[in-house]
This record gives sequence, structure tokens and C-alpha cells, in this order.
Amino acid sequence: MEFTLRKWAGEDAPALVKYASNKKIADNLRDGFPHPYTINDAWAFLQATLNADEAKSLYRAIDVGGEAVGSAGIFFKDNVYRKSAEIGYWLGEPFWGNGIATAAIRLMCEEVFKRRDIVRIYAEPYAHNAASCRALTNAGFELEGVLRQSIYKNGVIFDSCIYAKLRT
Ligand SMILES: CC(C)(COP(=O)(O)OP(=O)(O)OC[C@H]1O[C@@H](n2cnc3c(N)ncnc32)[C@H](O)[C@@H]1OP(=O)(O)O)[C@@H](O)C(=O)NCCC(=O)NCCS
Repeated sequence: MEFTLRKWAGEDAPALVKYASNKKIADNLRDGFPHPYTINDAWAFLQATLNADEAKSLYRAIDVGGEAVGSAGIFFKDNVYRKSAEIGYWLGEPFWGNGIATAAIRLMCEEVFKRRDIVRIYAEPYAHNAASCRALTNAGFELEGVLRQSIYKNGVIFDSCIYAKLRT
């Protein structure tokens, strides 16, 4: 399915509410991603992306047919991790299973490796998040390990995985 990665715009707020307000998405992300996802949450997120320091993070909307249907973000690390970045993403449920996340992860990584002095991009999906783990391997990431009992979410302790892709 065709998509583009672009900057977020103020007009994306209603689409954000439409696609982000989904427990299946919130359950696979860190606490702080709201559920339900209100228009105020959308405005707060868009404000944060507009004010974001691009030295520290890059936020992109996943756009299908002019509508923002998902999000991809890169977070640049500091101190001794300053040549590493973390990637995070979610996609609206109607668009799952079309290879969009795989392609979006690939594109974000290409962009970062081309333009930034970064040698490693990693992600930490929950171990039971098969779709995210698969999208990462499809995008050229390798599983480096299982972080046992690293997550406490919704009152449950479980494992996460660490996947990384190196600059080639
Ligand atoms: C994870 C997510 C972004 C994947 O988006 P997507 O565009 O559907 O992903 P893709 O289509 O590129 O790839 C998904 C892969 O997982 C596979 N998959 C999907 N569900 C699966 C399951 N339950 N078990 C095993 N594989 C599964 C798909 O078949 C596909 O692999 P294939 O192309 O080799 O067949 C999307 O499901 C999502 O937003 N989930 C909620 C938020 C989230 O988990 N974000 C990531 C946090 S780390």
C-alpha cells in the first residue's frame, strides 16, 4: 500500500484521534500513550512535535491518501549512547498487514543513517508483539536478546525484546 512519511501538521488532530484511540495500540506502547486518545491528547502531541528539537528526536506522520494514519519517531540518545537512536511507531488498525510498518521503519533508518552520525538504531517491542517483531526483522533488524521481566504494564510483568540495525 502506498504511503509517505511527512512532518505532522496541526490539521492532523482529528485523524490522530481516529486512529490512535485504540487499546490494541496503547497496550503495545509505553505508558503515557493515552487511551482513550482525545482531541486534547492529539493537540498536545502535535504541539510537542512542532516544538521538538531535531537534534534529539524526529517525528513523522505515516500518510496514506493525505490522511495521517500512523506515527514513526526516532529518539537520539546521549552520553555514551550518543551514536545510538531508538525507533518507535504505531499504525492505525485498518492499515495493518500491508507491509507499511516494515517499509516505514526501513525509510526512517535510511534517512537517519544518511543524515546523522548514528551507527545503531534499536527498538524494544514487547516479546508477545509478534507483528512488531516481524516488521523489525523484515526491515533488517536483528534480535539481540530478550529482556526478561523488564516490563510492568497494565498490572502485569512480562518480557521485552531488543532488536537493532547497524549502519552498513
Ligand atoms: C506493529 C505494527 C506497527 C505493525 O504494522 P504493519 O504495517 O501491520 O506491519 P507489517 O505489515 O509491515 O509487518 C507485520 C508482519 O507481522 C506479521 N504478523 C502480524 N500479526 C502477526 C501475529 N499475530 N503473529 C505473527 N506474525 C504476525 C505479518 O504477517 C507481517 O509479516 P510478513 O510480512 O512477513 O507476513 C502495528 O501492528 C501496530 O501499530 N501495532 C500496535 C502498536 C505497536 O505495536 N507498535 C510497535 C511498538 S514496539
